[in-house]
Amino acid sequence: MISLNDLRQFKAQGRKFSCLTCYDASMAKVMQVAEIDSILIGDSLGMTIQGHDSTLPVTVDDMVYHTQAVRRANQHAFIMTDLPFMSYATLPDAIANARAVMQAGAQMVKIEGGAWLAETVTHLTRNGVPVCMHLGLTPQSVHVFGGYKLQAKTREAADQLLEDCHALVEAGAAILLLECVPAQLGQEVAETFPHIPVIGIGAGNNTDGQVLVVQDMIGLTTGKLARFVRNFMTEQSGASAILDAFRAYHQAVQDKSFPAAEHTFQVEL
Ligand code: KIV
Repeated sequence: MISLNDLRQFKAQGRKFSCLTCYDASMAKVMQVAEIDSILIGDSLGMTIQGHDSTLPVTVDDMVYHTQAVRRANQHAFIMTDLPFMSYATLPDAIANARAVMQAGAQMVKIEGGAWLAETVTHLTRNGVPVCMHLGLTPQSVHVFGGYKLQAKTREAADQLLEDCHALVEAGAAILLLECVPAQLGQEVAETFPHIPVIGIGAGNNTDGQVLVVQDMIGLTTGKLARFVRNFMTEQSGASAILDAFRAYHQAVQDKSFPAAEHTFQVEL
């Protein structure tokens, strides 16, 4: 099983590492076969699994349930789990909820925010919970931002984010995750902290690791995709293989070519 130290070593060696979101055992098994380095049980499951339009309704119980499912099926990847909206607003909540997801199989928790969470980071780390800090576009604050938009677009805002990173790393943050920020800032953060793995999503290709929401990268997201998403399924099959399978099934049911004899129990009764 890949550990936090392995990710640090990957960074030291200049070996980039892969991370995908995952919420269920079937996908987790496929990711194990594909040797994906790290899995994020993201609170994006509020959208991808539960059909909400933000991550805000997700509960700690949801995160525990999905973490357990993924961990059972994947013994290879380093597993991080999001603490959902408002579940780490006080230190006792942060401890109780981190305990729940760590006991479910996470190796690290991820929380969203800046320097104001330094005390939370220290408290969690001292209690045996490694912390990944998510900065830049932090979806739990979508209503503060007024939408999902590029963050840290000016030198001043980039410097503010760098300052936040310094405070959080000093407090004990073990991984930084940057979402939807200029590529130059992604590189600056990765270079500023030589011992801290930096994961990017829409942060350019000079961070140490990359993460994508799995539904986005296999063509299961309808509507407008963020600029930073690439549909890898298209490249594998010339089209979205999963979508094609759904279409073929629909067609086969309609024209009665499915189920065929080989799918049918022919018993004389
Ligand atoms: O919840 C999630 O999937 C995330 C990624 C977008 C990084 O936080």
